Amino acid sequence: MKEIFIASRNSGKIREIREFFDQLDPGIKLRSLLDVPEIPDIEETGKTFEENALLKAKSVFEIVKVPVIADDSGLEVDFLGGRPGVLSARYSGEMASDQENCEKLLNELKGVKSSDRKARFKCVILFYGESNPGTYEGTCEGVIGNSLSGTSGFGYDPLFIPNGYTETFAELPIEVKNKISHRGKALQKFEAALMNWLKN
Ligand code: IMP
Repeated sequence: MKEIFIASRNSGKIREIREFFDQLDPGIKLRSLLDVPEIPDIEETGKTFEENALLKAKSVFEIVKVPVIADDSGLEVDFLGGRPGVLSARYSGEMASDQENCEKLLNELKGVKSSDRKARFKCVILFYGESNPGTYEGTCEGVIGNSLSGTSGFGYDPLFIPNGYTETFAELPIEVKNKISHRGKALQKFEAALMNWLKN
């Protein structure tokens, strides 16, 4: 059975990537950094999502020696000039929790009216193996709500209301999030390349 390794310890991301694979049912063994705790964390020193995805993919591939999927993603808020961007996971400090990051974002947007709370999630998925890497991008536009709402998902999901909806990502069913999200869109673009790789 072919194997793909997910270069992440973020259980929210891993769940969404696993669901994408489950739907295709391609018979691939999937592992992630959560299964191999001895692999050290990779420092994300890149200035862009692409750079960080490549850093993660390369360093994990050198250790596990099977094709790797890396996801680098984050939230860009217009009012904050695109912050937190690549620093989304560490917005309120190195070991920040999702709750702390959301609270910092709410504080920074205190008093800012809805029309000025536009934001987007971006995701770069990188498939990296022996041959040329493939890069797949997805974006999801929306606004930042005035308070936390909903309990599913992870990260900034309780604050992010995608365009065309009134609920946050944390209130929407996971199947809906996966269809319209930045990660879902990047994975949909990856699907053809994945199927091709499986045939060879
Ligand atoms: P990184 O890609 O490991 O640098 O971290 C991405 C960070 O962006 C996560 O820790 C979240 O804070 C945020 N993020 C990325 N994708 C999502 C999402 O789908 N929902 C909520 N937050 C997300």
